[in-house]
Amino acid sequence: MHLDTIIHGGTVVTASETTRADVGIAGDKIAAIGKDLKKSNANGAVLVNAAGRYVIPGGIDVHVHLALPFCGTVSADDYDSGTRAAACGGVTSLIDFAIPYGDESLQDAVDNWHARAEGKACIDYAFHVAITKWERHRKEIKKIFKKGYPTFKQFMIYEKEGWQSDDAAMYGALEILKDLGGMLLVHAESSRVLDMLIERHHSKAEMKKHGAYLHTMTRPNFIEAEAIERVIHWTRVTGSRSFIVHMSTAEGSDLIREARAQGVNILAETCAQYISLDDRVFKKKDGHLFATCPQLKTPRDQKRLWDGLRDGEVCSVSTDTCTFTRKQKAMWKGDWTKIPMGMPGLETLLPIVYTLGVRKKRITVNQFVDKCCTTPARTMGMYPRKGAIRVGSDADITIIHPTKTRRVDFKKMQTNCDWSPFQGWSLAGFAEHTFCRGRQIVEDYKFVGKNGYGQFIPRSHAGEV
Ligand code: URP
Ligand code: ZN
Ligand code: ZN
Repeated sequence: MHLDTIIHGGTVVTASETTRADVGIAGDKIAAIGKDLKKSNANGAVLVNAAGRYVIPGGIDVHVHLALPFCGTVSADDYDSGTRAAACGGVTSLIDFAIPYGDESLQDAVDNWHARAEGKACIDYAFHVAITKWERHRKEIKKIFKKGYPTFKQFMIYEKEGWQSDDAAMYGALEILKDLGGMLLVHAESSRVLDMLIERHHSKAEMKKHGAYLHTMTRPNFIEAEAIERVIHWTRVTGSRSFIVHMSTAEGSDLIREARAQGVNILAETCAQYISLDDRVFKKKDGHLFATCPQLKTPRDQKRLWDGLRDGEVCSVSTDTCTFTRKQKAMWKGDWTKIPMGMPGLETLLPIVYTLGVRKKRITVNQFVDKCCTTPARTMGMYPRKGAIRVGSDADITIIHPTKTRRVDFKKMQTNCDWSPFQGWSLAGFAEHTFCRGRQIVEDYKFVGKNGYGQFIPRSHAGEV
């Protein structure tokens, strides 16, 4: 058999198995998995020594915003820096959100996001499509779906941005997606009560006293929980499929567990920041840098989310990468409602989940692969092309050292960000080597990929677990 590359001597870890095996790549696919592939290396394939390493499917980050116009600025990582960061973090596919602005159609949004990615991306990508104007966009859903976009997104907040959906829009979108076999992703926060709480505390005196901690004070856990309850309700009555993005609370995890036990077809992801950081950061000098939406919660929530990852109600981990530099974050000028919300994350996703999950024995190494690679591919309609080490799958492969740590330093990373939420943390699980569709894009922890190599991955369905 003709092989271009043989990864030999490593331990192949999938969502269900850990095996000593070599992996052979031919072109852009995995062509062979077996013992001693090196022995039959007739055509002089490139050999990659993975002895003492884990060989896993490339990570898939299903929640990313690159170059997003948001909060009066544009997020600082684009398809150049963002996908380089992803590669160095062992992520080989990402899914961004194509969001219509003003009177744009869903097709306009899709075209705009393709234009951002083409020629720049060095890993593969796909798009969820945001429905922001129900009456205008509902007629387009079927056509867009058929073109390879089976996942749509609605926001229950962000009225000022013009992105907010009401319950009728959610009900209507779920009905349409049920018939098509798609899935609705929802940013679940209860906007009316949230706005009232923000208004209640929005005074000079309070801002002077509490600073960025007001972000936490005005977003109690019930803000997320009430909204998730409504998504569960509409998913149940329509019999459709939904997916809660960036779930951050213990209450949310309990609700998802209960709903799934009752047969409601609802999934929930969390993000690396919610299982590694907590809201005490907002009391620190520079605490405003950590503002995201929803915000970081408490150690109790963190523990519950880890339990959910282990037990199943939290199906995957993403990043919600939405990078803002110090200068951009400085736009807040002491008013927490003006902080550009979001953080960098693509380069640290796998290291955070691996170090805090596997090394701290909260999840197994197979669960790590499941949560960061395989289940993201399944739920978003990319499996088994992506998220798997099996013959015929794309040769998206990440090789990590099980114990060797590296210190996080934004200065040495690919992101355009001039700070990191994990600055100085010592993490294992960085990509020593990354392959995307057979091409090596990281070698010995160094980026060796190429802009424009990344391909759009069309999808035909979503919601599988
Ligand atoms: O803080 C965040 N998450 N920024 C991006 C927008 C969103 O709600 O996902
Ligand atoms: Zn969101
Ligand atoms: Zn987001």
